[in-house]
Amino acid sequence: MYFVHPQINLNKKNFQKIFSSFFRTPDSKGLNKKLSSFFPEKQIVFTDMGRSAFQIIIEKMNLRNSQMLFPAYICDIFLPIFKKYNIKPIFLDADIKTFNLKIEEMEKKTSPQTKSIFVSHIYGLPNNINKILFIAKKHNLKVIEDCAHSFGIKKGKRYLGNFGEASLFSLYKFLPVARGGMLVCPKNWKIDLEETSFSPRDFISFLNHFPFWAFLFKKFGGFVSPKIIRKEKLSKTGGINKVSLNLFSSLFEEHQKNLKKRINLGLFFQKELKNLGFETREGKENGFCYLSVLMPKKLREKRDDFIKGLRKEGVHCTRMWYSPIVLNPEAQKKYKLDLNEFPNTIEISQRVINFPLQDFFQKKDIKEMIGKIKKVLNSLDPVVKI
Ligand SMILES: Cc1ncc(COP(=O)(O)O)c(C=O)c1O
Repeated sequence: MYFVHPQINLNKKNFQKIFSSFFRTPDSKGLNKKLSSFFPEKQIVFTDMGRSAFQIIIEKMNLRNSQMLFPAYICDIFLPIFKKYNIKPIFLDADIKTFNLKIEEMEKKTSPQTKSIFVSHIYGLPNNINKILFIAKKHNLKVIEDCAHSFGIKKGKRYLGNFGEASLFSLYKFLPVARGGMLVCPKNWKIDLEETSFSPRDFISFLNHFPFWAFLFKKFGGFVSPKIIRKEKLSKTGGINKVSLNLFSSLFEEHQKNLKKRINLGLFFQKELKNLGFETREGKENGFCYLSVLMPKKLREKRDDFIKGLRKEGVHCTRMWYSPIVLNPEAQKKYKLDLNEFPNTIEISQRVINFPLQDFFQKKDIKEMIGKIKKVLNSLDPVVKI
């Protein structure tokens, strides 16, 4: 079975690391020292979630009651934060080839009330951050980097997360740590966070990193979990729990070592998918946190059937984000959105598919998935046999 979200490959070495994570006292100093080579001029603070880091950034940068340039193609978890801090997001459409924000829209959507831009390197594909920094400087905009999907990924010689004034990461997006976020910010920010505990809900998220449980949750958990997750994860800003910090601390170096292999597998997978008519994301230095493509145009209406068909074959893809923030009815009403301004975002949301890609996959796993993908495509479109 293949899943998109981080999975644990349970070998002897991993078992020890993971088991001990439940009992050890974290070596925060040692971890910070190791991470300082990623972010040499910054301070690193572990938070409960990435969104907590975002709230700290808003407070420290004095962004309450201001306008923020924001990607239209992103999830809607940010809405309660905008409300809390009275921030008006000014949405920029997505670039159809990268899914990242359309830089060309930056200047024409900036007004004297616009104080910042939120730059998300979506699914681990870096933005043209230097161009964004140039325009931001011209208009005196503060740059926040959203590296939720982009730990250890470089643009040129520097790691993402070093370019903006501050950045946020979401640890459980790329490692099986159940929960956790990271704030990378100027050294002079004074931040004091209360540690949170590893809750029963976190334990369920942890189990979801094992294929057996992931399968059960996918099959039976769909009815209950969405409401529980949202309610709990939106509680107040806090520090990371010890277990997730230990898991991160014992797994991130291995993840970093495997990154090159992951990228090569991602490029191989992309090439195979392209041959089958999928549109892959163009752009250099993709770190492939998620392997996301667009469904072939002629099969766009069959995207969801394709995903269901593949699920029966044991390949569990996702449609993240089939409902991005600008399609949220509350956002549409509150910000009086005109959806004609976001054609690419809507196009991507209707055609996006994220395929499984794990650090421990081999080429044979990709080949096996491709075989299954061909089979399901043929069943959807028997006229054009692949
Ligand atoms: C692009 C992006 N940025 C930020 C976040 C927030 O991360 P977290 O879930 O850790 O709060 C998410 C996830 O919801 C995300 O997908």
